[in-house]
Amino acid sequence: MRVDVLTLFPEAFRGPLDVSIVKRAREDGLLDLHVHDIREHATDRHRTVDDYPFGGGQGMVMRVDVLDRALEFVRAQAPERGLVVYLTPAGERLNDRIVRELAAEPRLILVCGRYEGVDERFVEHCVDREISIGDYVLTGGELPAMVLIDAVTRHIPGALGDAASPEEESFADGLLEHPQYTRPAVYRGWAVPDVLLSGHHARIEAWRRAQRLARTRERRPDLLGEPNDGAQPGGRRERLGAPDEVDE
Ligand code: ADE
Repeated sequence: MRVDVLTLFPEAFRGPLDVSIVKRAREDGLLDLHVHDIREHATDRHRTVDDYPFGGGQGMVMRVDVLDRALEFVRAQAPERGLVVYLTPAGERLNDRIVRELAAEPRLILVCGRYEGVDERFVEHCVDREISIGDYVLTGGELPAMVLIDAVTRHIPGALGDAASPEEESFADGLLEHPQYTRPAVYRGWAVPDVLLSGHHARIEAWRRAQRLARTRERRPDLLGEPNDGAQPGGRRERLGAPDEVDE
């Protein structure tokens, strides 16, 4: 899959996408990532990319002409047209379903906004999909673009290696993941749930499923089609009952 990023801060993309699974996917040719500087498509002496909003108001707006030129330039670099995604807090909220849809595209072109946003004519005429990574406002679309690239990369066949599969994780079955433990079996008196040491696979699987359900009901009842109003009181993690209190 090819991913092009249009940004005013290409340097922001160094680091997060150079480690671990995304790094390997790039090295293996599964993810072909290209980061482009929008400013290179400004035409005036000062390389202006933004201007004051018509009608007044705070902040600056990214110019439609500069963005359009940048997009045309990037588009011409590969035969696939590319799905143009604009990262904005006003977009539809990213979730597992959308990640899978995007991962099925041969090419994504991600547009990162800055300032107060981009001229709406660019969105109207050039953008296929507007996506938010959550109900909070970041200083720009760069981190959201990296979040999206990371999430999508995990769904490219082969990116997780042969053994692993995104199907076995949170959200694939609509539930949060069960807790995991490894050695030592007891640390500072904190013991791993007995059932996991029992070697009884059916019981372990039943316990894990009960944990997934209990966690989801407690933390994300909306995933079970229930209202979310009582979840996460005070925003602090509520401890679920000790794992061995949950039915096996
Ligand atoms: N740009 C600023 N905040 C954002 C968010 N929450 N999601 C996507 N793009 C953004």
